[in-house]
Amino acid sequence: MSQSAGHALTLRGISHAFGQVVAANAIDLDIRPGELVSLLGPSGCGKTTLLKIIAGFLRQTSGDVLVDGASISHLPTNRRRIGIVFQNYALFPHMSVAQNIAYGPIAAGRPKAETDAVVSEMLDVVQMAAFRDRLPRELSGGQQQRVALARCLAIRPRILLLDEPFSALDKNLRLDMQIEIKRLQRQSGITTVMVTHDQEEALGMSDRIAVLSRGNLEQFAPPSDIYDRPASLFVNTFVGTANLLRATVAGISASGAAVRLADGMVIETGRETTLSVGAAVLVAVRPEGMRVSATGGAGAIGAEITAVMPIGPALIYEVTLIDGSSVKVVQEREADAPLAGPVFLHLKPNRITGLFPDHSGDTHKKGN
Ligand SMILES: Nc1ncnc2c1ncn2[C@@H]1O[C@H](COP(=O)(O)OP(=O)(O)O)[C@@H](O)[C@H]1O
Ligand SMILES: [Mg+2]
Repeated sequence: MSQSAGHALTLRGISHAFGQVVAANAIDLDIRPGELVSLLGPSGCGKTTLLKIIAGFLRQTSGDVLVDGASISHLPTNRRRIGIVFQNYALFPHMSVAQNIAYGPIAAGRPKAETDAVVSEMLDVVQMAAFRDRLPRELSGGQQQRVALARCLAIRPRILLLDEPFSALDKNLRLDMQIEIKRLQRQSGITTVMVTHDQEEALGMSDRIAVLSRGNLEQFAPPSDIYDRPASLFVNTFVGTANLLRATVAGISASGAAVRLADGMVIETGRETTLSVGAAVLVAVRPEGMRVSATGGAGAIGAEITAVMPIGPALIYEVTLIDGSSVKVVQEREADAPLAGPVFLHLKPNRITGLFPDHSGDTHKKGN
């Protein structure tokens, strides 16, 4: 599959409107050769629209799509050498596995010997050689997906597009297929753009994730940055679990902002903010960025455990703070019985993922 490997894909100022709905708003993405990039966001945020624009099924309102620096926006779908696997696979039901895979090369006018060789190669790549004469309905969901992928790769695409590729698979099979597709992608080195609304899938599989919200690109970064350094409150709450502590900015120094929590305690966040002193702020911390204990100490926040959920090796505590808000804390299950009643909450150093403006009081102020 070496001819397919290593092409750069660029979206430059891509916008698309369906009437009043802006499905893509000036999206810029530079995808490196061989990268696996996920487009992640809630239903309706514009993921499929971007994929269709890249594939040429939809002509963007403005902006340009480039492969290896050359515009492909003027090319029809079948001249772009871009392969797309849809979420329902869309195999030809009356054709065998081998015929499905041969479809693309035959339509492209490839000689029979070459087509046969490609079909054999692709059957091996997706480990489906033993099933070559079966019909799609005689295959499991995972097998159908392998065939859909093989059929797509048989045209030697420069770019591979996957639209919610695992959504039709049950949970156990999904992880197997995720690992398999990632392995295939690595082996082939084919630049891949995958659409998903599943944050774990995006975090687990991607080199970089583009998080979208209502047609806007919120952040484009490696999974660890998206998780640890989300660029917006939207990213922080859409990816992973977010606890949001209400506070006000108490001071700003070179090492970051200090905030005052509801119980009056001031903590150093280690994070920068553009907010000014006195502004209402939401302090975002992941469940594993905090710890509860029976004993207090410096920086400990008084709280009360209101629910405990044991999940295998870990415990999830729901902890309620003095202002009535509650947070979730995940920690390792100790030999002793879980904590209960009044406890202390500790923020681990450098684990605050962000400081975001708190607008929750604004409507109240305006209303009065
Ligand atoms: N053919 C269409 N006509 C009108 N509106 C559309 C069309 N396709 C998508 N949209 C709208 O554009 C927005 C983005 O849709 P889509 O790209 O399918 O989102 P996603 O794949 O992230 O769920 C949604 O508001 C959707 O309703
Ligand atoms: Mg979609």
